[in-house]
Amino acid sequence: MATVLSVSGSPSATSRTAHLLRHLDERLTDQGHEVISLDVRTLPAEALLGADFSHPAIAAATALFDRAEGVVIGTPVYKAAYSGVLKALLDLLPQHALAGKTVLPLATGGTTTHVLAIDYALRPVLSSMGAGHIVQGWFTLDKDIAVGDDGVVTVARDTAESLARVVDRFSEALGGRTALLAGVGGPP
Ligand SMILES: Cc1cc2nc3c(=O)[nH]c(=O)nc-3n(C[C@H](O)[C@H](O)[C@H](O)COP(=O)(O)O)c2cc1C
Repeated sequence: MATVLSVSGSPSATSRTAHLLRHLDERLTDQGHEVISLDVRTLPAEALLGADFSHPAIAAATALFDRAEGVVIGTPVYKAAYSGVLKALLDLLPQHALAGKTVLPLATGGTTTHVLAIDYALRPVLSSMGAGHIVQGWFTLDKDIAVGDDGVVTVARDTAESLARVVDRFSEALGGRTALLAGVGGPP
């Protein structure tokens, strides 16, 4: 089984992207992977905005990427592309920080107008960082992700099935137990 780093690139304190990723982390854990979560918004802003490569928090984040065999990168679509805070972190990582790693790109957005943002915006960045294998990603509409007062995440049924498929393909690429488990939080 693999070590997976699950990175949320939303600056929002109530991020649907982060909730969705933490929800999908459970599926990967059930499939035997060790999952480490990282919310970029928790990293020090002065380090991100000041390009402080030597900041201990940036060094620690870099070490997490180094350790992972698989990386989930989740971002909200902002202005037709990935978020600025995600790019700020990626810019501080070594050029080939994703070399030899399997990567699952995920995005959330408010409109299907930007459903291809993963492919035209995020994927080229991940490739430039040496990602060995970028599996099929998925764009999820924000309205399809509900977060209860208790933090429980519910995903619309069709979307949940699609997400389960891309997560399982990612898991398979990492050598995980897959495909035998039920869906990811859609209504019965
Ligand atoms: C500043 C800003 C810009 C946005 N731009 C887009 C956009 O260009 N296309 C889109 O589909 N959604 C856009 N949205 C909607 C978000 O992508 C969507 O609500 C997303 O799920 C938010 O994720 P989060 O809660 O993790 O931050 C934008 C939202 C904000 C706050």
